[in-house]
Amino acid sequence: MTVNVLFAAQDDRWPDYEESLRSAIADVGIDAHLGADLPADQVDYIVYAPNSDLQDFAPYTRAKAVLNLWAGVEAVVGNPTLHLPLARMVDEGLTQGMIEWVTGHILRLHLGMDAHINAAPGTWDPVPPPLAFDARVTILGLGELGAACATALSRFGFDVAGWSRSPKQIEGITCYSGSDGLDAALQRADFCVLLLPSTEQTENTLNVRTLALMPKGARILNPGRGPLIDDDALLAARDAGQIGHATLDVFRIEPLPRDHPYWTHPKVTVTPHVAAETRAVYSSKTIAENIRRGEAGEPFLYLVDRTAGY
Ligand code: NDP
Ligand code: OXD
Repeated sequence: MTVNVLFAAQDDRWPDYEESLRSAIADVGIDAHLGADLPADQVDYIVYAPNSDLQDFAPYTRAKAVLNLWAGVEAVVGNPTLHLPLARMVDEGLTQGMIEWVTGHILRLHLGMDAHINAAPGTWDPVPPPLAFDARVTILGLGELGAACATALSRFGFDVAGWSRSPKQIEGITCYSGSDGLDAALQRADFCVLLLPSTEQTENTLNVRTLALMPKGARILNPGRGPLIDDDALLAARDAGQIGHATLDVFRIEPLPRDHPYWTHPKVTVTPHVAAETRAVYSSKTIAENIRRGEAGEPFLYLVDRTAGY
């Protein structure tokens, strides 16, 4: 039997995905008809990006699942027309990308690389850089991406802790959980990396109170989502020297408006939501495996908990 798979994302993504999806789905032994424009009542699976034109799921009467191309689901999870299982994206490329972005930006700050990159010719100031053994990293969010970054940084030599909603045990990582665990996790954070989903509960996780808990001069990296940080509180903490640097990849409004103070703040680095890109070749494997599972009557991978919002 042929399954009909609708690709519902921005039009310019389809050429990237068409061949990758076709071959990944064929590799799991499914005969599929793929398209970016199929009659709604004939669609079996919806490969979905929340910024697509498709916002009303009601006409997709025979669809078995919505397979999100993004890890973050805040822009689809509350859609009142969506009553289908919703799976989020987890793939090797996303995880590897996030490990590289987080490690690269931590090392830049930890080693003080800017001082050498921006030094005037003739500057010879041989201050030895610190070792990773001497720095404590806290990762807020110990899910697919947070746990992978925590493990990679720990292998690098950093002293790593993390914080999640439910208790965890991860080798080499000090794990905190629940609302009680947050303060302890922040109090030891020379570097704080935000890899939480955007939900009602996580909004403004970093705020006036929690920013003040961190050691003076702590550095923040946010590749999670903009609403995790109270921006005014961060700018004030930065101006007071409480926060040494903030490297931000995600914002409440994207693209970050040209007049936003983050652009010109000397101790803020802006990256344009590039920490981990969903790449067709890797994400197609996750999509194909979930279609195989759907056809075999097996549980889908990476199902979103609609109540928790992630
Ligand atoms: P997961 O769902 O696997 O992990 C989320 C983690 O956050 C879990 O450990 C979860 O706890 C924890 N968490 C959720 N709510 C709370 C809470 N209220 N208090 C404490 N901890 C909480 O997500 P991923 O790791 O795959 O992705 C994380 C986020 O990264 C995405 O939601 C997305 O916003 C962002 N992202 C950004 C990208 C970029 O390019 N900038 C690319 C990809 C993702 P528990 O384990 O107990 O459930
Ligand atoms: C994602 C993202 O959620 O790219 O996948 O931010």
